[in-house]
Amino acid sequence: MKLASDPALAPATDVIGAGVGPDDENVAPAGRWPHRHLLDVDVLSLDDLELVMRTTDTMVEVLARPIPKVPALRGWGVTNLFYEASTRTRVSFEVAAKNLSADVVNVTASASSVTKGESLIDTVRTLEALGARVIVIRHATSGAPYLAAEHFGGSVLNAGDGAHAHPTQALLDLYTMRAHLPGGAVAGRKVVILGDVLHSRVARSNLWSLTAAGAHVWVCGPATLLRGFDAWSAAGVGGSRRFTVTSDLEAALRDADVVMALRIQRERMQSGLLPSLREYAARFGLTRERLALARPEALVMHPGPMNEGVEIAPDVAAGSQSLITDQVANGVAVRMAILYLLAGARA
Ligand code: MLT
Repeated sequence: MKLASDPALAPATDVIGAGVGPDDENVAPAGRWPHRHLLDVDVLSLDDLELVMRTTDTMVEVLARPIPKVPALRGWGVTNLFYEASTRTRVSFEVAAKNLSADVVNVTASASSVTKGESLIDTVRTLEALGARVIVIRHATSGAPYLAAEHFGGSVLNAGDGAHAHPTQALLDLYTMRAHLPGGAVAGRKVVILGDVLHSRVARSNLWSLTAAGAHVWVCGPATLLRGFDAWSAAGVGGSRRFTVTSDLEAALRDADVVMALRIQRERMQSGLLPSLREYAARFGLTRERLALARPEALVMHPGPMNEGVEIAPDVAAGSQSLITDQVANGVAVRMAILYLLAGARA
């Protein structure tokens, strides 16, 4: 795949950089990535997931270089359109796009014409007229990126919509697990997602990608924060996917290979779902004692931002089993891979 046209910047055999070119099996040939948008991971096949993982390996190599920048998206306008607060996801997308030499524009809805009543559709059309070829959108309303995709001529990348989906988080979580689990595979592993599942787009997207990759996913939390998941589990997510829903924390943690704690999303919480944060921490917080129920080498993850002392104890978050910083670092590589693949599919 060759996206940049200036031979001085992109030698004919080397788009990503020295040692990696279009003939390298680590890099997707144009056309193998069939998706114009990335709205969720539920549409990704196992082959798609493998391609993202292998392309991310290449991006990790790029990031290890003294100057982690390649010309692959030179001339491409990438606009980050964030209607909700974010630190790591927004910065991560910006760094990823800049590492690929894209022209990056950041729009924060609270400082844009949205405050004057402009609709999402008008905003998207305006950004397209201003040169955006990729829009990365975060929105508090589930489905907003799907609406944007219907009215945008380029690619839409969902950076988190309401409680619905957060596809790049799920992909970076899968990548991080594969990088740290013995044997490099999640198939057959017990992965526990613990906490405020009800409000979590991270949990929903992870359920699709992790069960597709063969993990047995256990979703655990107070019954009020699992609503709807029982029915989903009973209906089955399809085929041989394994998915268990429980409020029994001990059963969930016992012999787990991965424990992912989720933030208690106070901004989306209705009254009555939890007696108090203190009660939640006492009954469901991931402490060192509870983590001892999992396998000795179990991986600890959290998508961030964390409420330390609530869903995760500070010593667990900073402990030797924690991959929380690796998740953040891998987020840049995964987002570079996705931008590269989306652009390649349209080049
Ligand atoms: C998200 O945007 O969903 C975050 O990564 C997780 C959270 O907000 O707790």
